[in-house]
Amino acid sequence: MIEQNTQIIFNKKVASGTFLMGLRSPEIVVKARPGQFVMIRVSPNTDPLLRRPFSICGTRGNDLFLILYKVVGKGTAILSNVRKGEKLSVLGPLGREFELPEPGRKSLLVSGGIGVAPLVFLAQAAKNNLVFIAGYRSASEMVPMEQVCPSRTDISIATDDGTAGHPGFVTEILESHLAGSADDYPKIFACGPLPMLKRVAALTIDRDIPCQVSLEANMACGLGACQGCAVGASKDSDRTYYHVCQDGPVFDVHTLDWESL
Ligand SMILES: Cc1cc2nc3c(=O)[nH]c(=O)nc-3n(C[C@H](O)[C@H](O)[C@H](O)COP(=O)(O)OP(=O)(O)OC[C@H]3O[C@@H](n4cnc5c(N)ncnc54)[C@H](O)[C@@H]3O)c2cc1C
Ligand code: FES
Repeated sequence: MIEQNTQIIFNKKVASGTFLMGLRSPEIVVKARPGQFVMIRVSPNTDPLLRRPFSICGTRGNDLFLILYKVVGKGTAILSNVRKGEKLSVLGPLGREFELPEPGRKSLLVSGGIGVAPLVFLAQAAKNNLVFIAGYRSASEMVPMEQVCPSRTDISIATDDGTAGHPGFVTEILESHLAGSADDYPKIFACGPLPMLKRVAALTIDRDIPCQVSLEANMACGLGACQGCAVGASKDSDRTYYHVCQDGPVFDVHTLDWESL
């Protein structure tokens, strides 16, 4: 794990309320794996006090890593005003990564909203032909793939309000991919809001489909020290709870107690 002052190379708006930031750190780039995250101190002073967690959304060359973030509160609003050349304290890469899709096996990446961020990095790293389906509330929130993942611009879209792609939930497209026989089931990788992940869990656990999800939780330390990010483990697990920051954020869907989430 690295803690360093990292120079901002760009910080640009790419969709409604959504920004793509490039940060220079050859040290983090060499260690970063899809699914891992960084904790960023968004301001040089103590307000806000706590670092904010962001998934690593990809890398460029040997020295640049990306985060893709949505402005939802004070910390992300401050971040959206950071300018090129400024420096931010970054801790990372942290957490457990996705298992890369096995070569030759069909894989399906399912995102909801800003949950697209870690899956973009997975899509960048995987050698497979992947099916990537992304859901947004509306077309204005759609993240332009050509800007975040130039090698993977083919993507199916669903929007809740029907302004682009499939009108409805992204999990409806997922269901249509699971209509075939068990032999054809793809491996699923998912990240998004909890209701979406619960639906993904319901669809995959019943059919015993391999599935990894990336969870979000409120995080104070990101290092397993504060207990703030605990989530319940499934009955079959040898644990009663997990820390999202250390045991996750990527989990096998079968290891979590979805009813308590
Ligand atoms: C492992 C991990 C990876 C993440 N990756 C990304 C990412 O790639 N891009 C991104 O935009 N965000 C990501 N998040 C969420 C991000 O950390 C929060 O949106 C951010 O901390 C909010 O800070 P804030 O100060 O702007 O909001 P706050 O002032 O702290 O909160 C403002 C509002 O946003 C809500 N909020 C706070 N945290 C979250 C959250 N985790 N999920 C949903 N709502 C929240 C609060 O309940 C409150 O209503 C990730 C979180 C985790 C745990
Ligand atoms: S954020 Fe502190 S234990 Fe996970």
